[in-house]
Amino acid sequence: MRKPIIAGNWKMNKTPYQAQVLVKQIDEYELDPAVEAVVCVPAIDLQAVNEVLDGSQLHLGAQNMYFEDHGAFTGEISPAMLKDLEVEYVIIGHSERREIFKEDDALIQKKVAAVLANGMKPILCVGETLEERVAGEEEDKVRGQLLKDLEGLKPEDFEKVVIAYEPIWAIGTGKTASADDAEAMAAFIRKTVGETFGKEAAERVRIQYGGSVKPDNVREIMSMDDVDGALVGGASLEAPSFISLVNYREDL
Ligand code: PGA
Repeated sequence: MRKPIIAGNWKMNKTPYQAQVLVKQIDEYELDPAVEAVVCVPAIDLQAVNEVLDGSQLHLGAQNMYFEDHGAFTGEISPAMLKDLEVEYVIIGHSERREIFKEDDALIQKKVAAVLANGMKPILCVGETLEERVAGEEEDKVRGQLLKDLEGLKPEDFEKVVIAYEPIWAIGTGKTASADDAEAMAAFIRKTVGETFGKEAAERVRIQYGGSVKPDNVREIMSMDDVDGALVGGASLEAPSFISLVNYREDL
């Protein structure tokens, strides 16, 4: 059984103090223990959040890292630095990193491998642009990203790998892919992992949908067979909405 995983991607929001306040607010509520709840916070907030995570139900995540262990890479953050702050998940290859910061699949592949080599779990983001969807190229695009970004992984790595399908046209736009579209791509991702890494890898890998997930659409998205979670930007920045996302099963 794959455990559902709801991850907040705070992006470039919240100072260390504001981050502590939000995490404490979330922790005042009881979160569904059957759901893994993750907060992926800005690098500068990791220490502050880690300090208030004792006894918390939340798992800690980062939003990016470099693949080298240390050295002359001004402005970058290493896997060891994240591990030292008890980071468990690292988002890799978010479309904002790909588009704004020009990260390519060769770099993303190295980052995914480095996250795993350092005992952490990657949340690899893939997804197509609106033009690619209109042209009917979404599967080719996502397949290409998966084959390049996951190259070299072993079947057992998929116990730890999370893949977030985030159609770029749905991020921060209020437009959500329909639950059927999310399921179709999640099933395609699972099939591609299966063909490349074997049946067990396909059964193990957790697949999230991301793009304008909100308390009022999370349940429908999470009801899909191949969707195991959600990666959430905007709606993860306030405690009440993040809590209703994590507790999506409760008011069924
Ligand atoms: P959104 O962002 O929920 O604000 O659309 C999702 C993401 O970029 O991970």
